[in-house]
Amino acid sequence: MGVVVVVDAEAAAAEGAVDNPIDHAPPPQVGIGFRPPLGPWILSNPSEVEFVEVTAEHFFEEGDDTLQRLAALYPISVHGLGLSLGTPGPLCTTTLDAFSRVASLCKAAWVSEHIAFTQSAEVDLGHLNPVPLTRDSLNVFINHAMEVQEHCGKPLILENITTYLRVPGDIPETDFLNELCHQAGVGLLLDVTNLFINSKNHNFDPIHWLRRLDPAFIRQMHIVGYSQANGQYHDGHCEMVQDDLLDLASFVVSYSNVESIILERDANFPKTELIAKELQLLEGICVTARSH
Ligand SMILES: [Fe+2]
Repeated sequence: MGVVVVVDAEAAAAEGAVDNPIDHAPPPQVGIGFRPPLGPWILSNPSEVEFVEVTAEHFFEEGDDTLQRLAALYPISVHGLGLSLGTPGPLCTTTLDAFSRVASLCKAAWVSEHIAFTQSAEVDLGHLNPVPLTRDSLNVFINHAMEVQEHCGKPLILENITTYLRVPGDIPETDFLNELCHQAGVGLLLDVTNLFINSKNHNFDPIHWLRRLDPAFIRQMHIVGYSQANGQYHDGHCEMVQDDLLDLASFVVSYSNVESIILERDANFPKTELIAKELQLLEGICVTARSH
């Protein structure tokens, strides 16, 4: 059994003697997930956009020219939806080759996928599903994460998802994430909206959760407004970012050396002026959080 890495950030802060590299780090770059309705605006190189995340699967069949134009304007990360790292057994080499090709074409700074599975051995489920937090799951992720990283020749970061169902397991989620990053040599894409939604739907404190996470692993954030229906919080990716999410993002920026924050918007697109204002708001909280 490997070592479970748990960081007591409060104890570390209490010691006070260690120079904190976050104090010297520039604020994270603020960016946006590339979506066709926003394409012309993003390609016009607005000052509010410093970083762009592309979804790998959107460029498997077409769009090489768009990828190359984006790469000439911005640092890029490539986000995957369908590698299904949590499915036991070999990864799909066709998907992995296509994913790697997109990452190379846009000279991605890093690539990312979800801590989830989208396929069983027989069926493509078409959406992200949680895995049981067990030693077996952890080993599947470690092996698959190392394979993706090696195949792409790029750093890999892994994203926490929303879970409406609590799947039984025997490893606390933060220990699972710490050990996955430690053993596989990968980082975290912390989706603060997903964390916030899970904390509401499953009644836990997101700050306490974050303090159990090794901040050194957090490299990128996702954020988008949540929605509420039938007594639950949802990640419809169709709302403006709310203040309680900004507070959580601000904590992450002050707690970790996160390098990039990406606004994710998949539907109900507002005018680009409003997207620009939202990005300015994110830049403001990043600058403020890093200056304290
Ligand atoms: Fe996300």
